[in-house]
Amino acid sequence: MASNRTFTMIKPDAVANGHIGAILDKITKSGFKIIALKQTSLSAEKAGEFYAVHKERGFYNDLVAFMSSGPIVAAILEKDNAIDDFRKLIGATDPTKAEPGTIRNLFAKSIDANAIHGSDSDENAEIEGNFFFSAFERI
Ligand code: TYD
Repeated sequence: MASNRTFTMIKPDAVANGHIGAILDKITKSGFKIIALKQTSLSAEKAGEFYAVHKERGFYNDLVAFMSSGPIVAAILEKDNAIDDFRKLIGATDPTKAEPGTIRNLFAKSIDANAIHGSDSDENAEIEGNFFFSAFERI
């Protein structure tokens, strides 16, 4: 995946609360092009694999249970400076600390159910995009 791409997931809380449309609208109006998009669900096993980097953290089991609790929307996005610009657009992990107008400020209620994921590096964006989309789906 080129370095102008990032990967995102709209998490189960935001999907359940009916925010898919508003979040995708904010993403595209912020200059991101949607390269690939799908709604799907993660099994606990798949959620555990996606967040394996956090395996030793105290919140890991709750995170895996939450991420497998309902449908999610996965997407690959493209824009210059995609990783940094998207992290700015979603805001801090803890929504009470997220800047006004960011996606987590607008749509998230807590640090564990924080509405949206954004890759933190080019390398992880590629790994995460490949986790959800086949080569044919992410041209
Ligand atoms: P992290 O990668 O630190 O944050 P971000 O999603 O902003 O890159 O953490 C991954 C997810 O783990 C985070 O979105 C929500 C969950 N989490 C908690 O539930 N509690 C916590 O204290 C932290 C740090 C994260």
